[in-house]
Amino acid sequence: MHDVRLSGIRKSYTSGTTVIPGLDLEIPAGSFTVLVGPSGCGKSTLLRMVAGLESVSGGQILIGGRDVTHLEPAARGIAMVFQSYALYPHMTVAENIGFPLTIARRPKAEIDAAVQKAADVLQLGHLLQRTPKALSGGQRQRVAIGRAIVRNPSVFLFDEPLSNLDASLRGQMRVELADLHRQIGATMIYVTHDQVEAMTMADQIVVLNKGHIEQAGSPMDLYRQPATPFVAGFLGAPSMNLFEGTLAREMGCETYGVRPEHVDIHADGDGEDKGVGRWPATIRHIEHLGADAIVYADVREVGTFTVRAEGELSLQVGQAVRLSPRSGHEHRFQGGRRLAA
Ligand SMILES: Nc1ncnc2c1ncn2[C@@H]1O[C@H](COP(=O)(O)OP(=O)(O)OP(=O)(O)O)[C@@H](O)[C@H]1O
Ligand SMILES: [Mg+2]
Repeated sequence: MHDVRLSGIRKSYTSGTTVIPGLDLEIPAGSFTVLVGPSGCGKSTLLRMVAGLESVSGGQILIGGRDVTHLEPAARGIAMVFQSYALYPHMTVAENIGFPLTIARRPKAEIDAAVQKAADVLQLGHLLQRTPKALSGGQRQRVAIGRAIVRNPSVFLFDEPLSNLDASLRGQMRVELADLHRQIGATMIYVTHDQVEAMTMADQIVVLNKGHIEQAGSPMDLYRQPATPFVAGFLGAPSMNLFEGTLAREMGCETYGVRPEHVDIHADGDGEDKGVGRWPATIRHIEHLGADAIVYADVREVGTFTVRAEGELSLQVGQAVRLSPRSGHEHRFQGGRRLAA
């Protein structure tokens, strides 16, 4: 396993579009690093530059201390898994997995052993003689990962590998990928626009926005202490309540934020009597999710707050309530940066 270092990496197209203006990033050896950000922010471009599939306009890429900036993809010791993982339909699972070694003209015994090992890790052993059309989406995705594993790369690159799968399969594959990472311990760089994948799988999350890094760190560090309003709004579902204007000024900042799970709702009357409840609000809509409920409450001249409440809720649409943020869970930003607590 190798670390990956990007220094001053830039990408501009001849059309004059600059996608990545200059980026520094350190990916520790053996880490599971997730690059996350909205569509078009440059995630795939960055990953493809690490893979050598896209030329760089400036800067340096080091893998395991070796400068690979201008090396061919095959010489970089990486393997990449894409969203659309074209398997060869006429080949068996075993032949598909072994394909990179077959074209490298490795001896048959070595190929068989490598395929068997990858199939064990991915629990594909019983499917080796099937063709791709007789597999589920998740099984096909595992074959594509197997094809990467047999190359024994020091760095795995994944570009939205789960986005073609349905929600329950995605959840299952998240767990399997995390297991795979624990088993083989290789460095993995994983691109997604799905913040749930980022939060659940990463050792390190790198939040990208318009080609620059907003913040990098462990999932819970970013969740607890987002450095910018962008990160605050991007990580967490439902999104953090973020307000500018009067409310923010009252709270002593330019942008004020509090997560839906950190707002308490008090039925009007009891809150006032006990001196709690900061903002009078009217319930606009309630989404019952079962285990919990998402409540939308309008605060006059401020906007709509999203509140995560317990599932068994006795509130009604139109009801007057009071909302209070939990102390220690408020976020204040000034000049686009987090204010010290
Ligand atoms: N040949 C090109 N010329 C100019 N701009 C390009 C070219 N190829 C890609 N881009 C732009 O580069 C930006 C980054 O693209 P990229 O594919 O890296 O985004 P992404 O973060 O992977 O998005 P998604 O989540 O949609 O996959 C986009 O705004 C895209 O329009
Ligand atoms: Mg992409």
